[in-house]
Amino acid sequence: MQKFIVTGGSRLRGELQLQGSKNSALPIMAAAILPDGECLIKNCPGLTDVYSAARILNCLGCKCIFSDNTVTTDSSALSSSEIPDELMREMRSSIVFMGAVLGRMKECTVSIPGGCELGPRPIDMHLSSMQKMGIDIRETGGRIICRTRSGRPKGAKITLNFPSVGATENIILCAVLAQGETVINNAAREPEICDLCGFLRSCGADIIGDGESRIIINGKDKLHGCEYSVMPDRIAGATYLSMAAAAGGELILKNACVAESEPFLSILEQTGCTLNTGENKIYIRSGGRLRAVRDRIRTMPHPGFPTDAQAVLMAALSLAEGTSVFEENIFDCRYRHTDALVKMGADIQVMGKIAVVKGVSRLHGANVEATDLRGGAAMLAAALAAEGTSEISRIYHIDRGYEKIEEAVRLLGGDMKRVQ
Ligand code: EPU
Repeated sequence: MQKFIVTGGSRLRGELQLQGSKNSALPIMAAAILPDGECLIKNCPGLTDVYSAARILNCLGCKCIFSDNTVTTDSSALSSSEIPDELMREMRSSIVFMGAVLGRMKECTVSIPGGCELGPRPIDMHLSSMQKMGIDIRETGGRIICRTRSGRPKGAKITLNFPSVGATENIILCAVLAQGETVINNAAREPEICDLCGFLRSCGADIIGDGESRIIINGKDKLHGCEYSVMPDRIAGATYLSMAAAAGGELILKNACVAESEPFLSILEQTGCTLNTGENKIYIRSGGRLRAVRDRIRTMPHPGFPTDAQAVLMAALSLAEGTSVFEENIFDCRYRHTDALVKMGADIQVMGKIAVVKGVSRLHGANVEATDLRGGAAMLAAALAAEGTSEISRIYHIDRGYEKIEEAVRLLGGDMKRVQ
């Protein structure tokens, strides 16, 4: 199994072209089932999750080719509405294919996406929303069989009891080809939802209100293919900024989404780093010791502080002067990286949804295992700032979300290599 060997202590300096967003690319690839024809999706990151999505599309009969960060799809000969169990289990976000397949094929068979990386991740809101749209759902032997009651999904008024990103995406994907109007109240407002809607509008869909908590979709009879470019990855951006904050240095992120990163940047700024933003650019300079963040850092749905940036910021704050407190409100089990950070010398105490991080003056290298995608990235940030060498194993978690991360870090002067 591959590992990263990281020797800390080098400042990070230079410019980095940010990858396209994983959490946009995946639902947009699912959406490529909906138009009857070809789509060209540019700025797709080369990641294991994106390759899994491509395998799902091909298995449904939607031709999909990934080359040079562009995904080309052709759904004119869609032939199946069943996603095999092993493909469903490859990544949790395979569940967003449910709404898209239902929208186009009027039926689908999927499975509960496996694993419990971040604690229980139920799909009850996805299923109850589909039922409201006129879909019968039967579960047998771990398979979820969905059939449209009246030939076509029907528009519905749906109020989510939590603004779930995946459930909002599934409803939108099912609604764009449904009969009539769908209203989603308490919808997720994440920028990736707006990106998905931007893609669907380019295919001719009628959607308004994305980015707000009420989204209205008017179903169309047909959608057409389009060319679209995926937004930059705000979480990869937060990760590289946290690395520079922790290890010190000067970094310019190019192709960054500035406004969408604001909830993260406004907290990072409190650590004493110099931050400047320009058109599609974020600049950070970090020298001397970081300051702890005074107010509790609460992860919340957008526009709150993003849960996906909690671990990487924690790695940086473990070296700050003073105590920072995190409150994780989105996932039950999103502090699994803290044991590794403690092994590297951090002082972190976890009590339920609270993590108290008392800044230490130095971290040291250690052998650690990536526990999940963002937790693994946090270990990497800590290792770059630590004295000595760290070995990070189970890096397949990190490869799910960061494109050529070792090349990016080396380009910035960090000492990191991938070994077999
Ligand atoms: N939830 C339910 N029932 C549901 C759906 C969700 O209880 O039917 C709960 C979840 O268990 C969780 C909370 O609602 O506690 C939020 O889940 P949400 O549905 O919003 O998250 P998701 O769609 O599963 C996406 C991202 C995650 C990101 C979250 C929150 C993708 C592919 N994944 O997940 O990204 O953390 O939204 O912003 O878009 C990552 O990139 O590392 C990652 C985990």
